[in-house]
Amino acid sequence: AIYSATVTSPVNIAVIKYWGKRNPSLILPTNSSLSVTLSQDHLSTRTTIACSADFESDRLWLNGVEEDISASKRLVNSIGTARALRASEEAKNPELAPLSQYKIHVCSENNFPTAAGLASSASGYAALVSALGQLFELPQSTAELSRVARVGSGSACRSMFGGFVAWRMGEKEDGEDSMAEQVAERAHWPDLQALILVVSDKKKAVSSTAGMQTTVETSALFAERVRSVVPARMQAMEKAIKERDFAEFAKITMQDSNQFHAVCLDTYPPIAYMNDTSHAVTRIIHAYNAVKGYTAAAYTFDAGPNAVIYAPKSEMRDLVQLFSYLFPRDEDVLPEVFYTNPFGLV
Ligand code: DP6
Repeated sequence: AIYSATVTSPVNIAVIKYWGKRNPSLILPTNSSLSVTLSQDHLSTRTTIACSADFESDRLWLNGVEEDISASKRLVNSIGTARALRASEEAKNPELAPLSQYKIHVCSENNFPTAAGLASSASGYAALVSALGQLFELPQSTAELSRVARVGSGSACRSMFGGFVAWRMGEKEDGEDSMAEQVAERAHWPDLQALILVVSDKKKAVSSTAGMQTTVETSALFAERVRSVVPARMQAMEKAIKERDFAEFAKITMQDSNQFHAVCLDTYPPIAYMNDTSHAVTRIIHAYNAVKGYTAAAYTFDAGPNAVIYAPKSEMRDLVQLFSYLFPRDEDVLPEVFYTNPFGLV
């Protein structure tokens, strides 16, 4: 027999950034973080996993190209952890088929160009772990399974939930309490939308994994961020989300993105993820808010130059027009690709 499961998982974009590990092999962070999960329509990973007594080895195809699972410690760890959970169920119930002993075949596809430099590890590992959870009929809660996604890629634990999601850093050395939790459902704030400006589709020069490790080792500003800034921001952000206070949400989002990139520059050797277009986008958003006379939009940038704009639905048409006008798609000046809306629109 062949057993199989298929799952689609979304991308998430942090508004309080995860940057820094206290334990790199278990992927335990130095600070909690908070993100918004985007709609699966635009950016998601669809993963099918099959297992059978007849399969001879674990195999993985990413966007149609076979990759070597054993070459990735993170893949080996997350698959191994899911298998161990299945094995303990099999030990309790001898009637279960011995799926934990079968080899698996994994087929994973992004519905967006991987080259576009948009988060793919988050949706990728969330889909892998969700599919394993279904295939193995694991009784663990989504929060518990988020720990398994975490050992694949930190930010992936947040993609296990929709809506507004916190990754609680936890305190334990084994990482048992370092997992994701939904702060509010997507339906709590349907008016909030996201616009992605693809400033560059080049692969980033410094990976998140390598970059954050150098930051932990060299940046004094980072130590201060972890100690005195993030805990208060997590609380303020959760309050802003609960109250659907866009002005406060926007301010914290922009400040946290700016501090994350300041910490990257304070890393030695320095890491510069934002380029001139990225900086132009920040000035445009502040000017836009000033002209409107209220906070109408917020930007955030991850480990690359692409911007994610959060704004209420009523602002999106103006923003898309403004960016299309300022950065015409048919010129050399980017952004050339727009991915809109986590929550449906345009
Ligand atoms: C800037 O989750 O990609 O996007 O845990 O090493 O896989 P690893 O790192 P990753 O880092 C994401 C960093 C970020 C901020 C965030 O998503 O919170």
